[in-house]
Amino acid sequence: MAKILVIDDEPSILESLNMFLTEKGHLVFTAETGTMGLELFSKNSFHVVIMDIRLPDLNGLDILQTMIKKKKTSKIIMITAFQDMETTIVAIKRGAFDYIHKPLDVVKIEKAVNRAINILEIDRETPALEPVNEISVNPWVIIGKSEKMRKIFKMMGLVCNSRVNVLLQGETGTGKELIARVIHLNSSFKDEPFVVFDCSAVVATLLESELFGHEKGAFTGAETTTMGKIEQAGNGTLFLDEIAQLPLAIQGSLLGFLQRREYTRVGGSRTLKSKCRIIAACNCNLADKVNKGVFKEDLYYRLKVFMIEVPPLRERLSDTPLLVEHFLNKINRELGTMVTKLQDGVMEMLVNQTWKGNVRELENTIAQALVGCRGNVLLKDDIHKLLNVKNRSQKMGLESYSLAHVEKDHITKTLSQLQWNKTNSAKLLGISLPTLRSKIKKYKIHKSDTQ
Ligand SMILES: Nc1ncnc2c1ncn2[C@@H]1O[C@H](COP(=O)(O)OP(=O)(O)OP(=O)(O)O)[C@@H](O)[C@H]1O
Ligand SMILES: [Mg+2]
Repeated sequence: MAKILVIDDEPSILESLNMFLTEKGHLVFTAETGTMGLELFSKNSFHVVIMDIRLPDLNGLDILQTMIKKKKTSKIIMITAFQDMETTIVAIKRGAFDYIHKPLDVVKIEKAVNRAINILEIDRETPALEPVNEISVNPWVIIGKSEKMRKIFKMMGLVCNSRVNVLLQGETGTGKELIARVIHLNSSFKDEPFVVFDCSAVVATLLESELFGHEKGAFTGAETTTMGKIEQAGNGTLFLDEIAQLPLAIQGSLLGFLQRREYTRVGGSRTLKSKCRIIAACNCNLADKVNKGVFKEDLYYRLKVFMIEVPPLRERLSDTPLLVEHFLNKINRELGTMVTKLQDGVMEMLVNQTWKGNVRELENTIAQALVGCRGNVLLKDDIHKLLNVKNRSQKMGLESYSLAHVEKDHITKTLSQLQWNKTNSAKLLGISLPTLRSKIKKYKIHKSDTQ
């Protein structure tokens, strides 16, 4: 049983919701004006509030804001005749749990109320994660305690104070750029610039001038003398990302620079010097590129004076939980969300997922889940929806994604959402009650599976 407050100025709606929800076993309070509603809200603790947006005295969206500020756990469902996107966005942004359009459909109301009660229950049972620590607030922190990451930290410690060239090799999203930045930030020249040059992002004809700069009039369109990335890096670090994509011709010029530490701007004759530290990165095996003749061997050896292989996430699964907590804290701060709890089972789902895009994909998934999460618990359902079906079917074997599996899953979810009310579940599923009963038997669905 839940304690529910309904605020609406239309007596017929108030009356019918009161009757409907009381019949479902809830304790219902009603208010015809915003002021009355707010007063009841302040004096009681409700599980759920159902509120019209257009009220005679106050605007429902403003009441919503006042209620959210009181930091009670109530889930607030807005109802309205407005169909516009803007009001919906404002309501959700201000913290509404759900938003239902008129004419009212009691099945939708019941679903939303049951979902709210379910989440409140999960919330009560779920312990909060550790509070944010100082380290997590630093955007350039590398999270990881696995043996492989500890090895990398040691290697970083060895190179950070020298200016030797470093080559970072690892799959996409494993943290190569982050490692490069942290090496720079721990060097004695950390106050000098850190400049990124993405070798794949610039058209081949402009690469040379982007890297070495150009003199005024060097080519059509060169209206002023411009510094290249090497010059911009000064005595700091130049991060050459996607180095494998550098065309052979430019590889030659870069090699020349690395050998002599001298260069000239395109169209210029003056010799310039630079002692910037070079960190290069690639997400393929650069030695293979050398074997295929698309990467200069001399340049390869120059760059890999110190080579760090960054392992994919699947080879350091013990780091995933730490990363998940770190990203929750980080994204909560960025988005202003307050998700501090994970429903039982969510961490396992995240650890067992194959993240082809590694840490970046994990971070993006958590961000997406937080955007869709209403409340402070990240639910299995939130994650489930996001995880790539293809990946999952690969992991679980195709058989688990048979039609029968999908049907069982769908029925189980519906029953769970409707708190095992079979009549309503059958209606929602569009099947008769006897059919639902036979399917529950056939698939051996038990109430305990849905909790
Ligand atoms: N160990 C880690 N701890 C915390 N954040 C991490 C870690 N590894 C990666 N990240 C984060 O994941 C995202 C991707 O990392 P990064 O851009 O460094 O990957 P990358 O290896 O350069 O990928 P790509 O090859 O696709 O350019 C960034 O937001 C980064 O901050
Ligand atoms: Mg990168």
